[in-house]
Amino acid sequence: MKKIVILISGRGSNMQAVVNADIAGAEIAAVISNQPDAAGLAWAAERGLTTATVNHRDYANREAFDAALMRVIDAHQPDLVLLAGFMRVLTADFCRHYQNRLINIHPSLLPAFTGLHTHQRAIDAGCRIAGCTVHFVTAELDCGPIIAQAAVPILDGDTADTLAARVLTAEHQILPQAVADFVSGSLKIDGSRVLNHRSSQIHNIGNTTVLSV
Ligand code: GRF
Repeated sequence: MKKIVILISGRGSNMQAVVNADIAGAEIAAVISNQPDAAGLAWAAERGLTTATVNHRDYANREAFDAALMRVIDAHQPDLVLLAGFMRVLTADFCRHYQNRLINIHPSLLPAFTGLHTHQRAIDAGCRIAGCTVHFVTAELDCGPIIAQAAVPILDGDTADTLAARVLTAEHQILPQAVADFVSGSLKIDGSRVLNHRSSQIHNIGNTTVLSV
């Protein structure tokens, strides 16, 4: 059984998608938030999952917060730490500590649009396609070997909110699949690339084609 610790900061819909996927061979060891009032934390607690808060406001600096967070995470001896809408920049020490077992979901087609406000920036840039990326985390923000991506169209009337909702639907598809692939041992990191022993797939979500590996 692979133990997974999930880090969230808010609503936690990606965390819910992973929990609800009931991935074979995976156990959700804990859901941890930096925000005490994160809605996702209450959702997880209601389902009997172990939850914890490490409030970044209680620490003098990023290093102290990350050290405290690592202590709480490591008490669960996780095989995988999942950043599912965790809105804190992590130190290089943190990223190194969980090297090759730290996975993030980012709401853009990386390497385009790292950082925040990805949907508005994609609209402003005139992109016709947007999407999301699941990747292994390295010390550089929103970089690291890509596990899966999904693409959705940008429509003429889109706002950041309507696009975010379309991308989120795709996030909920590729994140549980990427976690399942990690848990089953299908993923192999080869330099900056991830090779997946499970064959590539093309999923259809409604009238939107989503490509994922
Ligand atoms: C998602 O779009 C995620 O990619 C981004 O923040 C959002 C979090 O949503 N980093 P949720 O908390 O998983 O519902």
